[in-house]
Amino acid sequence: MFDLSLEVLRVVEDAAVASARTMGMGDADTADRAAVEAMRRTMDTIPMEGTIVIGEGERDKAPMLYIGEKVGAPNSDSQMVVDIAVDPLEGTNLCSTGAAGAITVLAASEKGGLLHAPDCYMEKIIVGPSSKGAVDLDAPVKHNLKAIARRLQRGVDDLVVVVLDRPRHQKLISEIREAGARIRLISDGDLSAGIAAAVAGTGVHAVMGSGGAPEGVLTAAALRCLNGQIVARLVVKDDAQKERMQQMGIRDVTKIYDTSELAPGRSLVFAACGVTDGNLLRGVRFSGDGTITQSIVMTSSTSKVRFIETTHLENKPDVKVRFR
Ligand code: FBP
Repeated sequence: MFDLSLEVLRVVEDAAVASARTMGMGDADTADRAAVEAMRRTMDTIPMEGTIVIGEGERDKAPMLYIGEKVGAPNSDSQMVVDIAVDPLEGTNLCSTGAAGAITVLAASEKGGLLHAPDCYMEKIIVGPSSKGAVDLDAPVKHNLKAIARRLQRGVDDLVVVVLDRPRHQKLISEIREAGARIRLISDGDLSAGIAAAVAGTGVHAVMGSGGAPEGVLTAAALRCLNGQIVARLVVKDDAQKERMQQMGIRDVTKIYDTSELAPGRSLVFAACGVTDGNLLRGVRFSGDGTITQSIVMTSSTSKVRFIETTHLENKPDVKVRFR
């Protein structure tokens, strides 16, 4: 039987293997291109009628995986009509420098199940299941941290908050420090940090600050499957951007979105594969015994979260699969 989650798993795995080959080359564009091309190729083997709703940007700026592009096996008479959001390589710089935390990501849903987010920043607070409903985007940082600590039955000083290391976050960082929580500053990758915040044992209790809006929607799709929460608001740079947002159908640009408004789909599928080693997923390992990838694949309607390790035999007849 056709199972979309296994099909999209192949998509993120192939993109991870292709981009991992460029790890450390110091060339973020090459790393991204490798992921995009592999993702696009594998998508076109899936019997579905897919439309990219979050991708590499507008049609005139991106050669493939652009917003509105149709993907899926040509001439397949599949009845599966899906909207697709991708971040072919989340953390292009992480991959190009061989730093931790680069992943490949795809989310799919029935039509209309993923917000068509503009390419702008989004203010976010991301927490796991225990802290759901405890945070407020407009509350002082210390209130939110106290509320999270209470839900997690620990002190504020036991919390770890992930923040993108950016000058725009100076005030936020000072407020977290004043409140007494610990901080993990990351150079990139608030999407993978957001997923980690909803998985117990990763050592991440919250993600705060502004990052990409498309990443926010992908995070929401993952959190719908993990029972976590994101509260978020678009950051409007100027009037031209406000107008563009309104043209895209966003009437109130100051609206605070919750998880299920960013990813309202009934049947969400989310898949991510590690490119370089991270909090949640190991990176791609190349060896004589095949290529090994580690992924997370989740579905909202059937409520499954799967961590999958795959050995890619690459059609070599003498590769040995190792038991681990
Ligand atoms: P790329 O995948 O394009 O490399 O972006 C990584 C990222 O760090 C995201 O995780 C984050 O949401 C966004 O960039 C932050 O943007 P900026 O680097 O402009 O602060």
